[in-house]
Amino acid sequence: MCGIVGYVGSQHANGRPLDVVMGGLARLEYRGYDSAGVALVTQDAGLATAKKAGKLVNLEGLLEERPLPPATAGIGHTRWATHGAPNDVNAHPHVSADGSVAVIHNGIVENFASLRAELAADGITMTSETDTEVVAHLLGAAYAATGDLAEAMRLIARRLHGTFTLLAVARDTPDLVVGTRHDSPLVVGLGEGENFLGSDVAAFIAHTREAMELGQDQVVSITPDAVTVVDFEGATVEPRRFTVDWDAAAAEKGGFASFMDKEIHDQPHAIADTLLGRTDDAGRLVLDEVRVDEAVLRQIDKIIVIACGTAAYAGQVAKYAIEHWCRIPVEVELAHEFRYRDPVVNAKTLVVAVSQSGETMDTLMAVRHAREQGATVLAIVNTHGSTIPRESDAVLYTHAGPEVAVASTKAFLAQITAAYLLGLYLAQLRGTKFPDEIAEILQDLREIPDKVQTVIDASGHVREVARSMADATSVLFLGRHVGYPVAMEGALKLKELAYIHAEGFAAGELKHGPIALIEDGQPVFIVVPSPRGRDSLHSKVISNIQEIRARGARTLVIAEEGDTDVLPFADEVFYVPRTPVLLAPLVSVVPLQIFACELATAKGLDVDQPRNLAKSVTVE
Ligand code: M6R
Repeated sequence: MCGIVGYVGSQHANGRPLDVVMGGLARLEYRGYDSAGVALVTQDAGLATAKKAGKLVNLEGLLEERPLPPATAGIGHTRWATHGAPNDVNAHPHVSADGSVAVIHNGIVENFASLRAELAADGITMTSETDTEVVAHLLGAAYAATGDLAEAMRLIARRLHGTFTLLAVARDTPDLVVGTRHDSPLVVGLGEGENFLGSDVAAFIAHTREAMELGQDQVVSITPDAVTVVDFEGATVEPRRFTVDWDAAAAEKGGFASFMDKEIHDQPHAIADTLLGRTDDAGRLVLDEVRVDEAVLRQIDKIIVIACGTAAYAGQVAKYAIEHWCRIPVEVELAHEFRYRDPVVNAKTLVVAVSQSGETMDTLMAVRHAREQGATVLAIVNTHGSTIPRESDAVLYTHAGPEVAVASTKAFLAQITAAYLLGLYLAQLRGTKFPDEIAEILQDLREIPDKVQTVIDASGHVREVARSMADATSVLFLGRHVGYPVAMEGALKLKELAYIHAEGFAAGELKHGPIALIEDGQPVFIVVPSPRGRDSLHSKVISNIQEIRARGARTLVIAEEGDTDVLPFADEVFYVPRTPVLLAPLVSVVPLQIFACELATAKGLDVDQPRNLAKSVTVE
């Protein structure tokens, strides 16, 4: 959950190590914001540290009050607290008892109690409540014994249980940063006369787009001119290089008041870019990244989507489309439930892991479990260089660009788009749709970015209603068919951004219990299916609206433009463009995202960094 940056370079002038580390922390702050800290190797060969509870801005204030001396290398950390309260003392870095090394950590050292006892027996007193401090003392001792920081890191990493990314600097190695990882992310950025380490590529995209993946259980050493990697046995490893296709400017606010607002506005591009280059000259879908043998994909008899949070709602939307287009049963399972229920998975199962970060620990563990059972795993992921695609059989990248706001918006739409592409690809491969039907759906998809733009351009009304509801204490969301996951996503956005109680329900479930919640003035959003859809879903949902309105609900209706049937029963209507039924979530969720963002802003809340949350949930 924490964000980690490391830097070493030959251009030491102008405080570059500190600038690079602080800039990286600013771009990684979405990973955690309980405290922040830096450690620099100073030019007179010493360690200088600064750390402060609270958001990065507090550390910036401290550095202004008490500037650090010029440095040659540095590491920085932004924390999401696990062990110990989020205060100054528990903030990282932690320095070894002999003052020789400073360490930062993302993850949990599960055997820290026994290591702590061992250190206590050696006369070392802990100053913090963290698991990380034991690592600093162990590393200091190993460094004193070996005189080699990378070797010391390798030796102690083998003793740690749990999950970790660790970075360390030593006071007498001015041009060296060492890192290691086990079940926690770390990527290398390759510069000219300088190199970088980061929890993800956002840490260094302002400086380089050339990067290297670090595998499980490896130790990396960066100097200004070299990157060396060994595994935990000490054997040299040649890591895979890749080029980041994200635009550095995409990780800046670009004039918007918040990343959340900017990312909502990015959504037409996120969808268009995810669709780009997916067909050949004959119009057939070509998913080059999906390097699973076609014979395997032809014989799968079940798909299980595993994901968490918003990504799981993207999976639920995809279920409706994939089952309809491919006639394959699709289950959607929260990743943290999946592996604990003895799921029926075998070589004919395609498991689709959906994740923006590619680092969600629950999803990663579910991927491993599925592969152990013989399933083929395909990852739908946004972040290059992350762990889930590396551990999957295949990957379909979404091209949403960096998503910085903790609450997911553009990644959600890109995930749905990628899942639709997968469904259509399977339909093409298995012959469950004719080529002209697939071409027609692809054309419908290509028209979605303009429709999303229309919703954003016409968002004045939903923003106004949101501002008027800043005092709301509970909002309900109803949807049916593909509108059901949209309702749940709308509720999740409101909970996490505005701290308002919100629940999403299947509209058909209303009379089985939730309708008891309706009382005078209770606001309820209803995602109304298209009147052109199947069966009588539209009229059934209109009946639901009448039922709750009769009991005093204030009805906030999302409906397709031209749907006048809703007017007599709606206190507010937010029209969205006409869209084919299965693709409708891509447009109908947008007013709900805008509503949550605007209402939270009206309450004066930080919409980019909501309380208690972190963007990448890298511990279970
Ligand atoms: O990085 P992932 O897509 O795997 O993250 C999954 C969830 O943690 C994430 O979608 C979370 O629910 C967001 N805060 C939702 O806005």
